[in-house]
Amino acid sequence: MAVQALGYIGIGGSNLDDWSAFATGQLGMQQVDRAASCRAFRMDDRRQRLIVDRELAEGERYFGWEVADAGALDALAARLEAAGVAVRREPAALADQRFVRGLISFRDPAGNRLEAFHGPQVADEPFKPGRDILGFRTGVLGMGHAVLMVADFEAALAFYQGLLGFRISDYIRAPVTACFLHVNPRHHSLALFQHTRLGLHHVMMELYSLDDVGQGYDLAQADDRVAVTLGRHPNDLMTSFYMRTPSNFLVEYGWGARDVDDATWKPSEMTTVASFWGHDGLIRSVAGDAPSPPHPPAPLPEGRRAPVQVIEGNYQKMSGVCPWWDATTGRR
Ligand SMILES: [Fe+2]
Repeated sequence: MAVQALGYIGIGGSNLDDWSAFATGQLGMQQVDRAASCRAFRMDDRRQRLIVDRELAEGERYFGWEVADAGALDALAARLEAAGVAVRREPAALADQRFVRGLISFRDPAGNRLEAFHGPQVADEPFKPGRDILGFRTGVLGMGHAVLMVADFEAALAFYQGLLGFRISDYIRAPVTACFLHVNPRHHSLALFQHTRLGLHHVMMELYSLDDVGQGYDLAQADDRVAVTLGRHPNDLMTSFYMRTPSNFLVEYGWGARDVDDATWKPSEMTTVASFWGHDGLIRSVAGDAPSPPHPPAPLPEGRRAPVQVIEGNYQKMSGVCPWWDATTGRR
């Protein structure tokens, strides 16, 4: 399949200083020198992952999707064109600005500008976080995920699934229509929500340390940025909160999401949008000014919990055991 990861995101915005303070002091990204009209930020070994450009209109975005190599990029361009999508082979000057070797651009059915690229440049200097964090979980998983609100949900889903090769992780039909899609082991690199208010709802960034998320939560509370309280999602199992950015979308800041394995993963329907716990404000953030249901909205089904998802080097097993736990977990 062609698309492998969400490589970068660009946004239009004139408030560059606000973005610099937010991206470094709150998110922990590293600002790098670019043209006077824009700011760029690193989150790992790549030259840039987030670009804020005041020459783009406020609210304009572009999403950079990574493919394996020049051949994969050509094949993707050919597939899009065969389906009637206008594709632009971007000149070297723009590829240089994106720090990639090859670049095409096109639009999804909702009008979002998408770019596909291969050959991202890696920085010479190691990543230096803007505040004291262990770092962001990226690599083959890409920079995180984006959640888009679209008017024609079926058209968007057909485009991303059928043309770009995204695979469905799970979906929900009521009380909202949404689909979570993956292109690598990250549970979703993209989610689509049917909505009358269009555009980018949030970008998710995943941290290695739960404490870095908690300290980010403290900072966001002190700065009155929290839009959705700390909570845990039942589908990707991420513990996260959402904060307002200097632009008109949110950043979800999280830890401990599960991986999906295409060999065994079966897409399933979610029967509730409710998180295991927390995430107060999430429905309000999607619905806008529409009246939100009382919190908690309804008695929750049982089994609203799952093991924490950890990686090697980031956990210690506790030695204590007790008969109650052994009986609960079926251990002996
Ligand atoms: Fe998310």
